[in-house]
Amino acid sequence: MTQITHTKGDYPIPARAMHQINLLCIIILAATGFFIHKPNFSLFGMSMNLVRAVHFYAGFVIILNLLVRFYWALLGKPGDIANFLPQKENRGTLLKMISYYLFLRKTHPVTGKHNTLQKSMYVFWFFLLIFQAITGFSMLWKGSAFGAFVIAVAGGLSNIYAIHYLTMWVFVATTLVHLYMVLFEDFPVFMTMFFGVESKEETT
Ligand code: HEM
Repeated sequence: MTQITHTKGDYPIPARAMHQINLLCIIILAATGFFIHKPNFSLFGMSMNLVRAVHFYAGFVIILNLLVRFYWALLGKPGDIANFLPQKENRGTLLKMISYYLFLRKTHPVTGKHNTLQKSMYVFWFFLLIFQAITGFSMLWKGSAFGAFVIAVAGGLSNIYAIHYLTMWVFVATTLVHLYMVLFEDFPVFMTMFFGVESKEETT
């Protein structure tokens, strides 16, 4: 049995700030996007024009945040790109991790900062967000050469709307899985990530 201590240093302020910006933007984008798709409810009494403007600004912010986070992962201090790529600490732990998630094992194996399934989800989000931005910006700038190209590839504007809408549900579903995991599987890390509280965890 190994005890792991999570400290504030594992989640430096820039990493926490960028995570919270993502969290806020995804909530705003999903809520405003859902309203744009089906405005049969009131979103704090906002007009459709305002809701659309909020959606676009949140879209810009989350993409800017993604670029800054990517730059920081590569060149920032501590430069944590390794946490999102295959690493030797995780070798041979995938099946053990799956057994743990299937309740076939009591504790999770010793891994790097993020286990393989977890980092796969983060990398998936990276590409999904770029994909969502491409479809989003093609709707926003449909008159531009970029917009026309993306719309042609998708086979029409209505396909882009449908793809963008379905991708929202992929974000909602995976974000709910993430929320379940952090609250019920990794609560100590949640406390460190949000409140800078030092926490301890048992692994084998
Ligand atoms: C990343 C940058 C993003 C940009 C630039 C963007 C842009 C847009 C644009 C231009 C529209 C069409 C609005 C209209 O015609 O009135 C739209 C609709 C929508 N967006 Fe986004 N969006 C982005 C991200 C997201 C994300 C992350 C989500 C969900 C988590 C999302 C969910 C939606 C939904 C559900 C709609 C309605 C689609 C429909 O009517 O079927 N968007 N977005």
